[in-house]
Amino acid sequence: MEKVRDRWSSRKVFLLASIGSAVGLGNVWRFSYVCYQNGGGAFLIPYFVALFTAGIPLMILEYAIGQMMNGAAPESFAKIRKKYEWIGWWALLIGFVVMTYYTVIMSWCFSYLIYSLKLSWGSSAQDFFFNNFLGLSSGHGDLGGIRWPIFLGLIFVWVSIFFCVIKGTKSVGKVVLITVPLPIICLVLLVIRGVTLPGAMEGLKFYLNPDFKVLLKPDVWLAAYSQIFFSLSLGFGVLIAYASYLPKKSDVVNNAFITGLADAGISFFAGFAVFSTLGYLACTTGVGVDKVVAAGPGLAFVTYPTIISLLPFGAAFFGVLFFIMLLTLGIDSAFSLVEAVVAGGMEKWGISRWKVNFIVCATAFFLGIIFTTRAGLYWLDVVDHFITTFGLVAVGLAECLIIGYVLGAERIRRYVNEHSDFSIGKWWNIIIKFITPSILAVLILKNLWNEIKIPYEKYPGWVLFAGGWGIVVLVVIGAYLLMKVKTKKINFG
Ligand code: ALA
Repeated sequence: MEKVRDRWSSRKVFLLASIGSAVGLGNVWRFSYVCYQNGGGAFLIPYFVALFTAGIPLMILEYAIGQMMNGAAPESFAKIRKKYEWIGWWALLIGFVVMTYYTVIMSWCFSYLIYSLKLSWGSSAQDFFFNNFLGLSSGHGDLGGIRWPIFLGLIFVWVSIFFCVIKGTKSVGKVVLITVPLPIICLVLLVIRGVTLPGAMEGLKFYLNPDFKVLLKPDVWLAAYSQIFFSLSLGFGVLIAYASYLPKKSDVVNNAFITGLADAGISFFAGFAVFSTLGYLACTTGVGVDKVVAAGPGLAFVTYPTIISLLPFGAAFFGVLFFIMLLTLGIDSAFSLVEAVVAGGMEKWGISRWKVNFIVCATAFFLGIIFTTRAGLYWLDVVDHFITTFGLVAVGLAECLIIGYVLGAERIRRYVNEHSDFSIGKWWNIIIKFITPSILAVLILKNLWNEIKIPYEKYPGWVLFAGGWGIVVLVVIGAYLLMKVKTKKINFG
């Protein structure tokens, strides 16, 4: 069967979609916290080293294979050698697992967008989030029923995603014209609001105060590489699928630099919004900035709502602005994960986009229901930790080895240089063959060692198996089985 491949309407649209995929929830809460925890301003050194020695080189690699092979991740790897098709499926399945809980966090944002109108969290945002909203149970084994507002929000999020990718590049191309600039405008307004609050400078000093001693700690470097990986959406097969919708003679190198630098810049800028307001919170409550910093969900759903309530004017407005920002940041990352799987499914089975899209969205929605229960946060925490720590980085390692040693880094470098606005030197081959794989291998081994020493959060063995190791292994087996399924072959012209 021969079909005409979907194409982006312009380079600008491709870049917006790629930036939209990279810039997500991770840029706001994850970057600020990781930066603060790993030496503040000094963390920018390992962060930018990681961006240039792994982030952008791997992005060049993923863009190049997508464009060169003209296929989603499984098809691209199958074209290198049939036996490597499963690596493409592996990447897609990791993205699939991530989307089951990423959408639940977006559903929380949706509820909080509505709560912001009346500042419904009242005097204790902490109590409201954990007890009233999540209704946390006693532990992983006590699911305690579904939280209906989260469940309904999840339906809304999935229906939105379904429609965003319904016409592939055509619908995505239209949506990103709004979902990429809108959160940036919100962010600019939040930074202006933040830095003009009393105490803001204390917060910023805290964020950026460089502690150069940390550069001697290996963990700080590892944190920088993990952050770059998650933030640039590497290892999910997204960039491969997106680049496969480009005409064969498109630029690669400049696109990778633009996407990578935009993502890093937005993370850095978001830190100003977060830390200036944390300074204000510290100043208003008389507690040190170090005491008010919260990680992950705590920052967006406890600390930020607390600050919003304390604002001198326009509290509801800034609340709504913050959650619209999170929702629009998240949606283009979420649908890029879906698009990567849909593209892979369409190519493998030759069925319509509509059907694959429906199957992917419905299955991920049903699997995500566990995160809408009273034990949802517990499960989200463990699944997220294992799939991002062991899954993503391992895919990146496999990509470097296959491109570096099977297909040949030099071949890709020459291909890329033929079309790009500017060329890359032989340094790229050295990075892909030696530097990045060594760093990623160390990262995996070090994390494995940490896990053996102290199991994650000291959770019981069955929890670590069901939500952690079990899923990591299942994803690999699933990928292998998907490769083995016999299919109708489609050739995209
Ligand atoms: N790159 C996406 C994020 O940062 C997944 O949220």
